Amino acid sequence: MSEATQTATAGTVADDARHDNPMWSSRLAFILAASGSAVGLGNIWKFPYITGENGGGAFVLVYLLCIAVVGIPIMIAEVMIGRRGGRSPINTLRIIADRDKLNPRWKLLGWMGIAASFLILSFYSVIGGWAINYVGHAASGAFAGASSDAIGSMFGGLLGDASSLLMWHTLFMVAVMMIVVRGLKSGMERAINILMPALFLLLLVLVGYAASTDEFSKGLNFLFAADFSKLTTEGVLSALGHAFFTLSLGMGVMLAYGSYLPKRVSIVKTAVTVSVVDTVVALLAGLAIFPLVFANGLEPGAGPGLIFQTLPLAFGKMAGGSFFGTLFFALLVIAALTSAISLLEPVVEWLEEQKGISRLTGTLIGGVSIWLLGIATVLSFNEWAEFHPLAFLPVFEGKTVFDILDYVTANLIMPLGGLLIAILAGWFMNKQAVENELDMGNGIGFKSFMFVLRFLAPAAVAVVFIYNLL
Ligand code: TRP
Repeated sequence: MSEATQTATAGTVADDARHDNPMWSSRLAFILAASGSAVGLGNIWKFPYITGENGGGAFVLVYLLCIAVVGIPIMIAEVMIGRRGGRSPINTLRIIADRDKLNPRWKLLGWMGIAASFLILSFYSVIGGWAINYVGHAASGAFAGASSDAIGSMFGGLLGDASSLLMWHTLFMVAVMMIVVRGLKSGMERAINILMPALFLLLLVLVGYAASTDEFSKGLNFLFAADFSKLTTEGVLSALGHAFFTLSLGMGVMLAYGSYLPKRVSIVKTAVTVSVVDTVVALLAGLAIFPLVFANGLEPGAGPGLIFQTLPLAFGKMAGGSFFGTLFFALLVIAALTSAISLLEPVVEWLEEQKGISRLTGTLIGGVSIWLLGIATVLSFNEWAEFHPLAFLPVFEGKTVFDILDYVTANLIMPLGGLLIAILAGWFMNKQAVENELDMGNGIGFKSFMFVLRFLAPAAVAVVFIYNLL
């Protein structure tokens, strides 16, 4: 039976037509959009600080392994499932379950993604708010000649002030909602075309500055010399979780994007390109930051404030620093916004599918609930800094609400979603369909990919997972 007749006989889902016009005009357009979702605070804010907390090199090595062995295969699988189904995540999973005679519960995977988007955006928006605040600091010249103590207390002052954190969080969330309510997709595509390369160039400028300091080799060493005595099992789980977080995997986002991908485009090449771009941005951020950490006698394990306590020092000392600093934090805000939009979109889409909810109402309900939950993250840095609500469970000991949200999404929900995607594509989905989608022939390349997808990736996730929970 041809693909077309299969679609026509799919019965229950016939009402929800396949997207007839693939959205992406080219492979490049898809790569830019997927990178827009992948490249965000995860690369520039989170990667450096968790690398610092986990002692550097060995963690980076494990992270790179996770990207290569687990992240890329699962991205390929996710995009492939999306293109085969050609619909929104929940419906795509429903149609594939239907077609391949699988358990209809596979669509729960779509729900999990919506839940994760909801939780992630609630803290993502607070950090996005910090970045907005820093655009203002940079523009007002506050970094010029400032000592590391002054920069440190600027950041400490922001965290300690719940009402200003709340204001910046609100501003970020309002911006996300305003874009999502209009469904501004084509504008986004055009904006990303310019902004992604600009962000890249600016990171290069910062790496150039870091290379001019005496501590560049120490920074390089910290990032790339692996000292396994510093690696903990929780560190391995963080590396794995971050591979999912940074590539936006296991939540149906790549599945949704894949549903718009034209048939002639190579999924494998495309997924590899997106992953490489994302990884390079993270490594550049690390290269820009760690030399400054050492040059200024700061602590690599300073935590979530790391970039806000190091990069301003560089801007404070370099020629044209106020200009470059303003531009950098503005680009960071935009990178955060493009990711945040793809976090709110699935929540709104799901609300819209409920009868009688318009896009406006959906955006308001979704946005305001996420904003409300975000207040818990705002308070985690001040009033609730010592509040550890789930401390009775050993994994959550000493964790604030923000830490818990971050842990549960990146280290539990996303890897679990990814695991299920690998299992669906590797074991349950019609093998011929997988072969057709991937279009690699049936040679050694395809066979090794299937091996990774069926055994290696699921085993890696399962082992790390179970080891950590015990
Ligand atoms: N990848 C994004 C980043 O690195 C964060 C993210 C995680 C995300 N999951 C997502 C973005 C889903 C969009 C959709 O910042």
